[in-house]
Amino acid sequence: MKKLLILTGILLLFLIISCNRTNEPNALLLDTGWKFKTGDDPAWATAAFNDSSWGTIDPKKIWEDQGYKGYDGFAWYRCTVLIRSSMKDETKMTDSLQILLGKIDDCDQVFLNGELIGENGKSIYTSSPASDGFIKTQGMWNVERRYVLAAGDPRIHWDKENLVAVRSYDQGGAGGMFGKTFKISMVGLGDHLKLDLTSTAFIFNGDSLVTKTFSATSLTGTEQLKGELAIEAIQSDNGICIYSERSIIDMTPHLKIEKTTSFRKSMSAPAILRVTFTEQVTRKTVTAEVEVPYLLTPASPATPRINGAKVFGVRPWSPFQYKVAATGQPPLKYSAADLPEGLAINPENGLITGSLKKKGDYLVRLTVENQLGYAERELKIVVGDLISLTPPMGWNSWNCWGLSVSDKKIRLSADAMKSSGLIDHGWSYINIDDGWEDTHDKNGNILPNSKFPNMAGLCNYVHSLGLKIGIYSSPGPRTCGGYEGSFGFEAKDAMNYASWGIDYLKYDWCSYGNTSPEPEPEQLKKPYKEMRHALRKANRDIHYSLCQYGMGDVWTWGAEVDGNSWRTTGDIEDTWESLSSIGFSQSKCSPSSAPGRWNDPDMLVVGYVGWGPALHYTRLTPGEQYTHITLWSLLAAPLLIGCDLEQLDPFTLNLLTNDEVLAVNQDPLGKQAIQLYKSDEYEVWARDLEDGSMAVGLFNKTEKPLNIPVEMKSLKIEGKWSMRDVWSQCDLGKVRGHFEMKTRPHGARMVVLSK
Ligand code: GLA
Repeated sequence: MKKLLILTGILLLFLIISCNRTNEPNALLLDTGWKFKTGDDPAWATAAFNDSSWGTIDPKKIWEDQGYKGYDGFAWYRCTVLIRSSMKDETKMTDSLQILLGKIDDCDQVFLNGELIGENGKSIYTSSPASDGFIKTQGMWNVERRYVLAAGDPRIHWDKENLVAVRSYDQGGAGGMFGKTFKISMVGLGDHLKLDLTSTAFIFNGDSLVTKTFSATSLTGTEQLKGELAIEAIQSDNGICIYSERSIIDMTPHLKIEKTTSFRKSMSAPAILRVTFTEQVTRKTVTAEVEVPYLLTPASPATPRINGAKVFGVRPWSPFQYKVAATGQPPLKYSAADLPEGLAINPENGLITGSLKKKGDYLVRLTVENQLGYAERELKIVVGDLISLTPPMGWNSWNCWGLSVSDKKIRLSADAMKSSGLIDHGWSYINIDDGWEDTHDKNGNILPNSKFPNMAGLCNYVHSLGLKIGIYSSPGPRTCGGYEGSFGFEAKDAMNYASWGIDYLKYDWCSYGNTSPEPEPEQLKKPYKEMRHALRKANRDIHYSLCQYGMGDVWTWGAEVDGNSWRTTGDIEDTWESLSSIGFSQSKCSPSSAPGRWNDPDMLVVGYVGWGPALHYTRLTPGEQYTHITLWSLLAAPLLIGCDLEQLDPFTLNLLTNDEVLAVNQDPLGKQAIQLYKSDEYEVWARDLEDGSMAVGLFNKTEKPLNIPVEMKSLKIEGKWSMRDVWSQCDLGKVRGHFEMKTRPHGARMVVLSK
């Protein structure tokens, strides 16, 4: 017994030590020392419970990556930590303690010493007994958990061991704690005053006026915050301050103030907007900075220009729909010479519809005219077995609306796709992600939930705008959002989708993992083959998008199950870490990319995103967003915008309407770029294009401007080549042997080299 006590003592000491490592004076790191167990028992919240038989776990990674593959349901995390009162010494404000627990997929309750202190991102301020009414709130998986308690809260045991216990519940897919910040600290000035410069977009008025609204929020429980607020705009290239403004702010606890500032700057020149609050007594400061967007895409000419895919695949007898994408001063008049029998073009909106019976290639000459002139271009129609001969371009509801998607939001998004002009640059799909499903009725027909009163009517509406529409399901009984999946109803579901008029299916693994927890390659393929079989029976071309996060190197067998695209990674987020780790790791799948078979590194995270009803402006800097679109174009990736299309800001629209950049993505050769050079500082990727030219992307991974050199022999080309900057759409003259380009922090350049 004594031995056992000593052992427990050593173990406890070890836990305390491992939970108390810190490199910040006023913070206890909580990123190690956690115990873990699947299941659910209220006793696990208490300090008295002995968890010595539990496993250990790293809270920074989901449990699927740590030996709990496919587990959905309840699981508990426990960590013992000594909360020292000396933490209070160095802060002026000592009224609150915060516990930061990264993110939790999908939902959580957090207990301190057996008492509930917060759930699903909301602090529970008054001391209350542990509750059993756990609300499994959807859409919280991506929210940083920060639980704040008053310093005098009796649930905190100062200078004693404290037990932090997390009861988590996973609905499907990835599960448990993950993220970056796990710590306990006093709430300091920086935590008390939140300067939010990033959750709204910059507005551009005219050709040089920039307007920005930002907020300052007092998070103090009791103290008044008074001090000076300085706003400065600084040119990034030379450090010159081009605007400065100062004012005094005096904030009562919990007050949020919004400020709008306007200044003039060249639209194409990068700059920083900096806001600094200096607290009047301590002179301590809180600063936030944001990069002011710079526009690279020139305005489309008033004369007609034809954009979009140059090749289009269709199966014999399937309904045909291709929208000629064109810009130019309206009204535009569309015509098509040599259209095969069975097709017709609407001269007013450029929509080609009908159906084709015979397999074969057809060359059609498209013409678009307006008062100022006309443009011509060839469209190759390939009637055969393969569809999606260029990567799909469109929009998907997930990254903005999450599970709060509705019929109304889909209609408004389709309207905005048209009215914003995105449709004129080749953007065509409007895809409903998870959250539309109800149950299967007694005849096995899937019923949409009350947010989608008339699916066929919705599809008709989207088609009437010249757009296509997509839907989402899972091969498992439940989708990742906990809605009804297609398990056992594959054939009926496919027939229903086709009868409504669906053009795209995202088929998401989610709870299928429960049916075969350690899937072998054949088991990974099985559900996808089954739905493929069902889809092929429908008289409709439905783009088949496999979503299983890259398991079993899906890119090596996605074509075998007839996928048109396949996700190669887990879910993307609007952070540089997520974007760069996904984007720059795609070279392993390059060889699999081909017309009709696309690697999918997940959807775009530009504009207003949020994964739920509340949206925020993307946390990516402008440079990072140029990297995103440049890299995804080079990767021949499906381009699915993930933002609220009704709130497209001028920068996002400019970013998404560069026809020369999009032409690289849509190049008919369908070859994904190869990573030619990789270091900690920069990368160079290049892809061959159909006309013999080559697109080259230069990516700066550092936080400073960087000159990136490219040796042309690494591109395996010799002699003189013409170089064109596709973002600015300017010729840069001839190059031979070597060239260099200046790149913005985390930014990118893209050139096309042609003989
Ligand atoms: C998974 C997918 C996401 C989205 C959600 C919906 O996480 O990877 O893209 O479809 O499910 O629940």
